[in-house]
This record gives sequence, C-alpha cells and structure tokens, in this order.
Amino acid sequence: MRRGSILSLLAIGVVAGGIATAVAVLFPWLPTPASREAGRIDFVFWFVIAICIFIFAIVVAAMVYAITHFRAAPDDDSDGPPIHGHTGLEIAWTVVPTILVTAIAIVSAVVLSQDDAQGADPLRVDVMAQQFAWTFSYPGTSVVSPILYLPDNRSVELALNSKDVIHSFWVPQFGQKEDTVPGLTTHLHITPDRIGTYPVICTELCGLGHALMRSEAIVMTPAAFQKWLTSQAKAAASAASGSGSAPSGAALFKQNGCISCHTLAAAGATGKVGPDLDQLPAEAQRAFVRESIVDPNAYIESGFPKNVMPQTFGSTLSKAQLDALVQYLISSSKKG
Ligand code: CUA
Repeated sequence: MRRGSILSLLAIGVVAGGIATAVAVLFPWLPTPASREAGRIDFVFWFVIAICIFIFAIVVAAMVYAITHFRAAPDDDSDGPPIHGHTGLEIAWTVVPTILVTAIAIVSAVVLSQDDAQGADPLRVDVMAQQFAWTFSYPGTSVVSPILYLPDNRSVELALNSKDVIHSFWVPQFGQKEDTVPGLTTHLHITPDRIGTYPVICTELCGLGHALMRSEAIVMTPAAFQKWLTSQAKAAASAASGSGSAPSGAALFKQNGCISCHTLAAAGATGKVGPDLDQLPAEAQRAFVRESIVDPNAYIESGFPKNVMPQTFGSTLSKAQLDALVQYLISSSKKG
C-alpha cells in the first residue's frame, strides 16, 4: 500500500472517530450515577462505547476510501480484477474482534458479580409494590414509608414483593432494575454514594396508573438517616400506643397508594386515575365507602373504567384499618 493511501485512510478514520466521540461525550446520555453499582455499569458502558467508536472509525475509513478511490466510471461495464483473498487480513479481522468481544464479556461478568454482591453490614429494606404505589419498610423497626430513605455509602439490600401484578423497581441514578413478582421475593443490592433525591419509577406496564407509580429515593448522610429512622420509629410507637392503638387513616391512605390515583386535598393527593374523593356525595354512607374499598367493582362512578382499583384491600387491610380509612375519608372529604 502506498504511503499516501495509508495517510488518507488514517485521516478519514480520525475524523469519523472524532465525530462519533463528540456525539458520545457531548450529549448527556446517562444520568450521573448515585451508587457504586451504577458507577460500574457506566464503566462497562463507556468501555464498550470506546471499542465501538474504534471499530466505527476503521469501517468508515475503509468505506469512504473505497468509494472515492475505486469508483468505476459511469460507462465502465467491465469485470473487476480477480482477487484471491488476503490471509493476513482475514486472520486480523477474526482475531481482533474475538479479543474485543472476550474483553467485553470479562469486564461485564466482573461488574455483574460485583454489583450482585452484598457489602458488609447491609441495610435491609422491604419494598412492597402494588397498583399504583411503593411502600418501603425497615425490618426490625415499625417504620413504613412511601418514600425510600437510604444512608449514604452503606450497602442496601432491597427485598421486593408485589401485592398484585408484576411491577419493576427502577431508580435511573442507581442504574439497575428489578421486577417485583407476586408470590416471589426478588433482591437488589444498592450502595448509594451520592447524597440527593432521585425518582423511583415503575418500569413494567402494570395498569392504568402505571405512569403515576412513582416515588422518591432520598440518600442522606448516615447520621441524618439514623435520626430519621429513630424519629419515625418513635412516631409509629406513639401512634400505636397513644390513641388506643387506632391506626391512622391518613397514614393508611398514603401507605396503600390511594394517594397516587385519587384526589384528596386533606392528604395532598392530586391523582386523576380514580374518582375525586373530595367530591364524595354528601350523603355518602360508611357502608358505601367501605364497599368501594373492599369491592371496587360493585359500583363504578361514571367516566371511570372497571378493574383499575386494586381488589385486594379486603384481604390486605385489617378491620381496624378499614374502619380508620373509611372514617378518614368521610371526615376529610370536602363535601363529606
Ligand atoms: Cu407498577 Cu407500572
């Protein structure tokens, strides 16, 4: 090959590689990681992207060079010269991709096993998914929260369950997704390493309220987290003992996900999937409200579809909890 040809191949390759690199780097394709696991996943991503850009530059250089240098004249119908392969070239384009693909496999396997492993002294959090809300509880305490609070720099093991259909837990900044499957406990390890507030998103189409099935993950300093946990445990304990162990209707409304589908000013809820609970008819009776929770299909408000409200509350709520929730709804509804 002539020196000039090699130089022009190189020049085209550098330009193509430069453009591809700019597209990869100048756009924010990925959120900034907020966990060690996500940091490793990002590393694999950029490792693969770098290899792809390298291959892309070679392919573009060969293609552009061939198009510009070996183009046949418009009226040239003659056959091309007979060519009998090139053993060196064929070995190269077999061996190089084999090495690259093997490297990707090794790096991915290492990251996968590291991300799957639990750190020392993990914090366990139970995650319950239901149409259309998340509930996080902290075993060993009575703390239950609709928002996921986590301490910075500590390994967390999420144990995920579902009350009804398949959902999927995802915090983009944590970099991993895990399905929640009814009747099965799935696990996810997260080691948050950046303080902040991140969205919790359901990424499995789970019904009409799927798009609203969101919450927040708040990563705090370990001291602030411990303070939060202690104060929540205290509040839960005094609620349990103080008022004759009556469950709080307001807390139940939040914990059971009512808040994501219904509007109720008293709870700060603005959901539009289900009927507006501030508009409960003035003559609404306890029996009607209770039936609507336990057996939602018994009466469907016009303009709302059937089978959207979960039909499991009759079995998941105790009688005392149901009483508290009904009482709360009747007394908080603006027209109630
Ligand atoms: Cu739960 Cu989508």
